[in-house]
Amino acid sequence: MLFITLIYAASRDYLSPMSLKAQHVWMDGKLVPWESANVHIQTHALHYASAVFEGIRVYKTPKGPAAFRLQDHFNRLYDSAKVYMMEIPYRREELVEATKMLVQSNGFEECYVRPLVYRGFGSMGVYGGNAPVKVAISAWPWGTYLGTSGSNSGVRCMVSSWRRISSDSLPPQAKGTANYANSGLAKLEAVKYGFDEAIMLNSLGLVTEGSGENIFRVKNGAIATPPSTAGVLRGITRDTVIKIAEETKLPIERVNISREELYTADELFFTGTASEVVTIRQVDGRDIGSGDYPISKRIREEYLKLVHGMRNGHEDWMTYMG
Ligand SMILES: Cc1ncc(COP(=O)(O)O)c(C=O)c1O
Repeated sequence: MLFITLIYAASRDYLSPMSLKAQHVWMDGKLVPWESANVHIQTHALHYASAVFEGIRVYKTPKGPAAFRLQDHFNRLYDSAKVYMMEIPYRREELVEATKMLVQSNGFEECYVRPLVYRGFGSMGVYGGNAPVKVAISAWPWGTYLGTSGSNSGVRCMVSSWRRISSDSLPPQAKGTANYANSGLAKLEAVKYGFDEAIMLNSLGLVTEGSGENIFRVKNGAIATPPSTAGVLRGITRDTVIKIAEETKLPIERVNISREELYTADELFFTGTASEVVTIRQVDGRDIGSGDYPISKRIREEYLKLVHGMRNGHEDWMTYMG
C-alpha cells in the first residue's frame, strides 16, 4: 500500500506555476478561455476581501474522474455566502453541472477545483451590498499542497506568533478570503523561519489548525482533534478522517489540545482537501514521537483509497464528472 501511496503522490507533484494554466474557466454562467478570465481592478472583493470560496479535488477512480464530497463543499460555500450576506445567483445543481462542464472541457482526469463567490465591480466603499455577486470556478492540476517530500516523510512546523481569528471578529467556519490574511501572515512567518507550515493557537492559547489544514493528535492509540468551537474550519477532510477512524474502530474525540500536548504527542497530522493527510514530524524543534507514525499512515492510506474509489462504502461522496 505504501508503494501505491508513493505513486499517487509522485504522479501528482506538479510544481511549475504554468501547471495552474488550463484551457477554460467557468465565469458567471459560461466557459471562457483561461487567458480571458479577468476582473476589473475596482472589483470590490480585491479591496475589501468580500469573497468566499471552496477547494475541491477531483480524483481518478476506476469509474472515471470523480469530485470528492462535492455536495458537502457546495453546502459549505452557500453557508459561507450566507454569513457574508451574499446571495449566490445560481442553484447548487447549476454549480455541480458547471464543475462537470469545466473538468470535461479541460480534459482533466485529476485536478483541484476552486469555486469563488465574490462581490464584483459596481460600488466602492466598505459596504458591499451594491456590488454584484459574481461566481467563478477554476480548475488546475495540483500536486500535494505541502509537497511530495512532506507527504512522504512529514512536515516541520512552528507554533505561529499570530493567533487564529475567532468567531467574535472574523468567523473561522465561513471560508471567507479575509480569513486567509490571518493564515497568510502565519504561513509567511513559518516559511521565513524555514518551516513547512504554521500551527495557530486561539486567543486562549489552545491549538486550532494549520494555515490551511485541520490538525489531529495521537496519544496512546487515541486520536483527538480540536472541536469546531476552538475556532477551526469544519474541514471536510477532517470529517472524512473522523468517519474513517470510527469505521476502523480507532478511538477518536473532538477535544481541546494545548500547546504542550503538541510536543508530547506520539503522532500529529494535518488534514485538508489540498494537503490530504500529512504527518507532522517536528514542532518548534521537538521531534514528534518515535519517528514511526503507524496511525497517521493508516489513516492516510485509507483516505487515498477512499478518494480514488478503491475503498468500499461512501459511494454517495463521489460525483462523477462524466
Ligand atoms: C484554515 C483551514 N482549515 C482547514 C482546512 C481543511 O478543510 P477541508 O478539509 O474542507 O479542505 C482548510 C482548507 O481549506 C483551511 O483553509
